Amino acid sequence: MVYLGADHAGFELKESIKSHLEEKGIKYLDLGTDSLKSVDYPDYALKVAQKIKEGNEEDFGVLFCGTGIGMAIAANKIDGIRAAVVHDEYTAEVAKKHNKANIIALGGRTITPTEAIRYLDSFMSSKYEGGRHENRISKIDSMEKV
Ligand code: RB5
Repeated sequence: MVYLGADHAGFELKESIKSHLEEKGIKYLDLGTDSLKSVDYPDYALKVAQKIKEGNEEDFGVLFCGTGIGMAIAANKIDGIRAAVVHDEYTAEVAKKHNKANIIALGGRTITPTEAIRYLDSFMSSKYEGGRHENRISKIDSMEKV
């Protein structure tokens, strides 16, 4: 399952990728927001992060705000969340392959819908590589207790 969350600045970008997910037969759950009315992005970061934390390995989230930055900062406060702002196909790919990201954050004011779809596809078609990265991910996990 793909969990989607946006504030007002990411709302339109969130809407624009839904039909792409539908075309690909990928199930998603939209956790809001549902309009351009101003809201606070941490509320939506928390909703999506909680779903990922409770869900299974295949689940991931896509968060949308003006830049992706605030969403990623907020989501990364939740244990078990590895949220990455991605700004091209390469960062989307390595966010999964190296960083085992379970959320990507996209900027409604920084990228176009076409770019968002390209980055999302790059993330979805990549696999976590494990190996040398596993020790690094374990170290990040242990920092949650600091
Ligand atoms: C909202 O105006 C904007 O600050 C927010 O969407 C986001 O860019 C924060 O990181």
